[in-house]
Amino acid sequence: MLSAAVAVSVFSIGVGLGVTLASRRALSIARSSVPRASESTPYVAPPWTPASLPKPQRRLRLGHLPTPMHRWQLPNVEAEVWIKRDDFTGSEFSGNKIRKLEFLLAAAVEQGCDSVITVGGIQSNHCRATAAAARRLGLEPHLILRTSRPESDPGLIGNLMLSRMVGAQLHLVDGDTFAAKGGWQLCCDLKHRLEKQGRRPYAFPSGGSNSLGSWGYLQAIAEVEEQVATEGLSFDRIYFGCGSGGTAAGLALGVHYSSLQSELVALGVDDTPDDFYAKLTSIFADMAPTSAPLPDPRTLLRIEDSVGIGYAQSTEAELRFVREVAQSTGVVLDPVYSGKAAMGMVGDLERRPAARVLFIHTGGLLGLYEKDTQLKPLLEGGWTSWNA
Ligand SMILES: Cc1ncc(COP(=O)(O)O)c(C=O)c1O
Repeated sequence: MLSAAVAVSVFSIGVGLGVTLASRRALSIARSSVPRASESTPYVAPPWTPASLPKPQRRLRLGHLPTPMHRWQLPNVEAEVWIKRDDFTGSEFSGNKIRKLEFLLAAAVEQGCDSVITVGGIQSNHCRATAAAARRLGLEPHLILRTSRPESDPGLIGNLMLSRMVGAQLHLVDGDTFAAKGGWQLCCDLKHRLEKQGRRPYAFPSGGSNSLGSWGYLQAIAEVEEQVATEGLSFDRIYFGCGSGGTAAGLALGVHYSSLQSELVALGVDDTPDDFYAKLTSIFADMAPTSAPLPDPRTLLRIEDSVGIGYAQSTEAELRFVREVAQSTGVVLDPVYSGKAAMGMVGDLERRPAARVLFIHTGGLLGLYEKDTQLKPLLEGGWTSWNA
């Protein structure tokens, strides 16, 4: 299939040379065969995916893929570290969620839905990416957001700025109601309410982490496999941050079935490793038929606790680490996921040295803005008045 850029440049050359009608017709067919973002295409799973595993039918192309992979000279780390930039999947769409949304929103479009519902914390990257991607597809985004102040305007910091910019409808829920009902039940309740108003909503859980969304990271392993082959590399280990488990579920299956021989290490930033193993077990059960169950996740990946003092809560040491990495490598980590995960990786490498490893940067940049008060003393200085 011709890429849009190739098709356009061939077209201009063709016009300049006075091409024949037949070749112009061929060109217009080539151009119309480039899928638009709102058009899903039949999904062809990587060849190593087991035949017994039911595959998603369709996939949208929303992310800027493949994301780059490059050397990352982390200070005081002996291992050769590479980084895969899933923080570069887009701008409004940036981060790991867009890979899951390519499958989830394809299903929403396929089912003729007119709106989407999902759920997360007040600064949810997933909700922001969902809102922007939904608007791209002409769907109305509804976000259920957990907050300590559901009666007040939630403001415009970080992800909220973008979610509100694209006109997402925000449904604010306090922590107690959230804990009592659970995020998924809240989605189902809202779905029911919207259906009664004649809407056709499509709902998916926090982080897009269900049996369909997880395919985004199974597919991502095919991308890593190709990059590894091109660079002539092999990684002893692959590290990444784990929040709701979908990234871990997809990567675990991808690494297991593909040709990659790397140990997979998830750094948990909210729940305990046991909770995550249970979550993966449940996603795997939903993905596979009972006649051909998927392996026990404990045999596929190591999950380490990297939560620190709590989900989305930063210690000064963590923020110092994020600053040091930014100032010595130019890579900006986020405080909630990739910062804690990268710090966890450095600790893990001290305990278990490895020659060459890959870190997947899952995004989250906008989460830094919420930490401005805590970051202020760490970022003081570095400026002078031109007129002084
Ligand atoms: C920036 C970022 N990194 C990592 C994660 C974790 O991914 P997952 O929810 O698939 O475990 C999330 C979301 O939870 C995220 O927003």
